[in-house]
Amino acid sequence: MNQVDYLRVSLVDRCNFRCQYCMPEGDDLKFLQQADILSADELLTLIREVMIPVGFTRFRLTGGEPLLRPDVVEIVRSIAHLPQVQDLSMTTNGFLLPRLAQPLYNAGLRRINISLDSLVPDTFEKITGSRAQTARSRWQQVWDGIQTAHEVGFNPLKLNVVVIPGVNEQEVPDLAALTLERQWHVRFIEFMPIGNADLFGERGWVPSEELRQQIRDRWGLEEGQVLGNGPADVFRIPGAKGTLGFISQMSECFCDRCNRMRLSADGWLRPCLLNEAGQVDLKRSLRAGASTQELQAMVRVALGQKAEINYSERDSGIPEGAGEANGQVNQGRYSRTMSQIGG
Ligand code: GTP
Ligand code: 5AD
Ligand code: SF4
Repeated sequence: MNQVDYLRVSLVDRCNFRCQYCMPEGDDLKFLQQADILSADELLTLIREVMIPVGFTRFRLTGGEPLLRPDVVEIVRSIAHLPQVQDLSMTTNGFLLPRLAQPLYNAGLRRINISLDSLVPDTFEKITGSRAQTARSRWQQVWDGIQTAHEVGFNPLKLNVVVIPGVNEQEVPDLAALTLERQWHVRFIEFMPIGNADLFGERGWVPSEELRQQIRDRWGLEEGQVLGNGPADVFRIPGAKGTLGFISQMSECFCDRCNRMRLSADGWLRPCLLNEAGQVDLKRSLRAGASTQELQAMVRVALGQKAEINYSERDSGIPEGAGEANGQVNQGRYSRTMSQIGG
C-alpha cells in the first residue's frame, strides 16, 4: 500500500465552462447551495487540525473551477503558509488566470495545471460549451491566462489535454510541439466514461501508447522528469524544453500506486475517484461539534478502508462496479461528473 499523503480539495462544484466530457450543457446538474459548501475557515480547520496530523502533506485545489471561489486567494495564502505543507498546487480551466495568476503567485502558489484541449479556437469553444461568453474568444482568454501564469513564474506549468477521438485527437502533434520551445509540460489524458456517455462512443478513448508512437515516429521520445504527485508517465521529445505526460487510466490501471484522497466542496472525504465506498461526511461532524480527535479518527477509518480495496485485480482505472455503493451506477457509466468529484 502506498503512503496516502496527497489530498485533492474541491473548492466549489460550479464551473464557468461546460466541457463536453465533464459537465455537458443541457445536463440537469444540481449544484450545491452556498450553505453546504465548506467555508474557508472550516476548510482550514480540516486541513490544519485533521488532515495534516494524520499525514497529508501535499494539497491540490480543484473544482468545478476553483477560481470561481471569491476567497480563493485567501485560501491559497492560508494553506501555503502552513509549515507542514510540502506541496500546494491547483487545477484550473485558466479562464480567470489573466487577472488571478499574479495574486495567486503572491499568495504562495507555485505550480498550476491548466486544461487546454485544443489550439483551434472553434474546437475549443465546442469542447468547452457556451458559458462564459466574452467579447474575446474563450480560447484567447485561456491562452492569455497560460502566458500570464508563465510570466508570473509558475513552474512547473502543466497543460492537461483530454484526448477525444474525432474531436481533438488530430491535434496531438501540435499540442506536443508546444513543449519544444517552451518549458511547458503537456499531458495527454485518456478520456474516461464519466460525465458524458454520448461523447464516449465506440472508440471512446485513445490509448496513450498510440499517441506515444505517433510522437516517437516524428521526433523520437525519451524518458523525462517533472515535479508532480499524479499518475502521469513522463517523457520528453529529445532536446525539448518541456515534457510530455500520459495519464492512462483506461489502458493501464494505476490504482495500485494511488496516493490520494479527495475532499469535496461540501466536505465529504472520498477515498477513491470512482469508487464511493468508504466516504465520510467531515462537514456534518465538524458542524455538529466533533472534536479534532474524532474527526482524525474518521479520516483514519477512511484510510484503512482505502488500504483494503484490492486494486491489483483491476485491469483498468475504471474499477468494475464503481459507484455501486450509492446506487449510482448508470448502465456501467458513472452518474457523478468529474466537476462534482474534483477531477
Ligand atoms: P501533478 O501533481 O501535477 O502530477 O497533478 P495531477 O496529475 O495529480 O493533477 P491533475 O488535476 O492535473 O490531474 C490530471 C488528470 O488525471 C485528472 O483530471 C484525471 O483525469 C486524472 N486523475 C488524477 N487523479 C486520478 C485518480 O486518482 N484516478 C483516476 N482514474 N484519474 C485521475
Ligand atoms: N476523462 C478524463 N479526464 C477528465 N477530466 C474531466 N472529465 C474527464 C473525463 N471524462 C479532467 C480534465 C481536467 C480535469 C479537471 O479533469 O483533464 O483537466
Ligand atoms: Fe485512486 Fe481510485 Fe483513481 Fe484508482 S480510481 S487512482 S484508487 S482514486
